[in-house]
Amino acid sequence: DIATLEAGFQQRIDRGDKIEPQDWMPEGYRNTLLRQMSQHAHSEYVGMLPEGFWLTRAPSLHRKCVLLAKIQDEAGHSQYLYSALESLGVDRDGIYQQLLSGQAKYLNIFNYPALTWADVGMIGWLTDGAAIVNQVPLSRSSYGPYARAMVRICQEESFHHRQGFDLVRKLVEGTPEQRQMAQDALNRWWWPTVMVFGPPDEDSPHSRRSMQWGIKLYSNDTLRQKFVDQTVPQIHHLGLTVPDPDLRLNEETGHYEIGRIDWDEFSRVIQGGGQCNRHRVGSRRRAWEQGAWVREAAACHASKQAARQAG
Ligand code: 3HC
Repeated sequence: DIATLEAGFQQRIDRGDKIEPQDWMPEGYRNTLLRQMSQHAHSEYVGMLPEGFWLTRAPSLHRKCVLLAKIQDEAGHSQYLYSALESLGVDRDGIYQQLLSGQAKYLNIFNYPALTWADVGMIGWLTDGAAIVNQVPLSRSSYGPYARAMVRICQEESFHHRQGFDLVRKLVEGTPEQRQMAQDALNRWWWPTVMVFGPPDEDSPHSRRSMQWGIKLYSNDTLRQKFVDQTVPQIHHLGLTVPDPDLRLNEETGHYEIGRIDWDEFSRVIQGGGQCNRHRVGSRRRAWEQGAWVREAAACHASKQAARQAG
């Protein structure tokens, strides 16, 4: 019966077994994976947009090539994740339509504009830095296809993180105007990045169950603290200021304590009311419509190839 199956399933999770697509899984486990993995895939896909704006404006050919490579990686990450979703028996187009209809969530951070070249650096350094803190544990997630997708993704994220840090360092070592540009961008990106880890543990409806199932390995606040402890010294090293007057190092715990996070802003942004939500979804929708002929041509080519092979 179902209770025995569920108990056996939980024992497998507790033993550290990987759950594979052909294995029995509780409906709730599958739905949680569908929710988290689809939001994750959409985030990678929408995540290309703020930086994509700067591709034709990069200050040198070298920076342009680096940025192009990073954005291509993000498209690749979303493809791994959409493929991992297919292993749960869902249709890729159906999942994607939920993004295009504005129904699906993706990370809050991508609804902010990249106003200057320094913002491109902040996205790499801070956002990808946060993504690494969040995703390295996910490579030990209980669902095999999700965990395996994370391994390659995290290796690439580490290149993204370093190019972001390098970009910001160059600005900080430049003219006073360039240094100011970096500080202004940090002021814009710090708080939205701290929010990336999701609501505080006591307000996170999914965490407890997801952690029991080994889908998430650490709570939102645990990972947020890790990111803060890791990033604040880097900010100080560059001679920049964290835009938080309440930030302090607790000598006893060895952890940085941050000021109050504006969770109202977070809710507004994830419910579609951020600065760029409409623009982001609109531009994905345009790309889908304008790319229709490519999908049709690819399908036509594939069916001709198949017919040729069969003949
Ligand atoms: N942005 C948008 N929505 C968020 C959010 C965020 N930062 N954090 C939480 N939420 C949403 C949840 O999706 C959930 O909404 P729902 O009930 O409608 O599905 C609600 O807020 C409650 O949050 P919970 O904490 O209960 O939700 P989770 O247990 O799913 O935890 C999470 C949220 C920590 C974001 C988790 O889903 C997770 O670890 N996801 C995978 C990480 C991810 O998506 N990474 C994207 C990286 S993109 C990237 O790296 C691009 C870069 O290369 C530029």
